[in-house]
Amino acid sequence: MKAIRFHHYGGPDLLVLDDVPAPDLCAGEVLVRIKAAGVNPADYKFRAGWFKDFVNLTLPFIPGADFSGTVEQVAPGVHGFKPGDEVFGMRDVQVGGSYAQYIAVRSDAIALKPKRLSHVQAAAVPLAALTAWSALFDHAELKRGQRVLIHAASGGVGVYAVQLAKLAGTEVIATTSTGNVELVRSLGADQVIDYRMADFASTVKDIDIVLDALGGETQVKSMGVLRTDGLIVTLQPPGVDAVLAEQMRVRTALVEVAANGKRIAKLASLLDDGVLTPIIDQVLPLAQASQAHARSESGRARGKIVLTVD
Ligand SMILES: NC(=O)c1ccc[n+]([C@@H]2O[C@H](COP(=O)([O-])OP(=O)(O)OC[C@H]3O[C@@H](n4cnc5c(N)ncnc54)[C@H](OP(=O)(O)O)[C@@H]3O)[C@@H](O)[C@H]2O)c1
Repeated sequence: MKAIRFHHYGGPDLLVLDDVPAPDLCAGEVLVRIKAAGVNPADYKFRAGWFKDFVNLTLPFIPGADFSGTVEQVAPGVHGFKPGDEVFGMRDVQVGGSYAQYIAVRSDAIALKPKRLSHVQAAAVPLAALTAWSALFDHAELKRGQRVLIHAASGGVGVYAVQLAKLAGTEVIATTSTGNVELVRSLGADQVIDYRMADFASTVKDIDIVLDALGGETQVKSMGVLRTDGLIVTLQPPGVDAVLAEQMRVRTALVEVAANGKRIAKLASLLDDGVLTPIIDQVLPLAQASQAHARSESGRARGKIVLTVD
């Protein structure tokens, strides 16, 4: 089969289209013929070697967590899926494998594709939407009426976080830049702060929950807009400085997203009901994975980048 791989850590140009054997199927797995693969920032971070001191990838490595496609084959021990089913799902980013024509994946990491969505749209969902869900509901246990500040609301995770927080009945305040203000408002944000025009730290206060996709200065300043005992949930490892958080009298959490087929099925029903919508930044053919990574690394993606696979 065709697959994108990198043989060494480095820049986006190291992504090459290789011929590789199709994956073997183990018990409990399904073989999916991939139609579209979602691109996440973690894909380029692993490629660039950001995590090489902590996570030992076997090179050459096929990147990619998110995929949507058709079940080709089912191993013993799999219930609920059969050849021909249209499915979507994710593998953990450090396992990778979705920038390819086929992937073998545990059946508890997939769900039936929402009928309303194309494969391109479905591939734009799993990792980013599961991250938003985990931040808002596992860590923050969001309650109706709370005030939530969502940073990078126009990004892959942010577009789902705004919609899910709104569905939960919270007041959503979101940050993005000028060109994305209308998009974020259309997703349901009650207040959108254009970070090029205003400093959120002097615009809002008494926030119950901050979803911090950015880290750094944004993370530190975010602690100052929380109410006492408010919670900052960050997506940036290693998490928030515990000493600083204690001084500021705020609580902290770090999201570590993981594949979860049952939850992907819940997302599928929200997507089929039309109350959750993917936002696509760019669609590129698999062979142009290096352009997709360059776009992701720019930090300017507006929703998700998706690769199509023939
Ligand atoms: N811990 C986990 O399990 C986990 C899971 C998923 C993602 N992540 C991490 O979370 C981060 C976000 O992921 P993502 O997929 O949402 O990224 P993304 O799609 O690349 O985010 C891009 C968006 O960020 C916005 N942005 C950039 N700087 C901003 C600022 N200063 N203020 C407000 N918005 C800003 C951009 O809007 P403008 O162009 O308008 O600036 C753009 O729309 C990444 O670092 C990713 O690796 C971690």
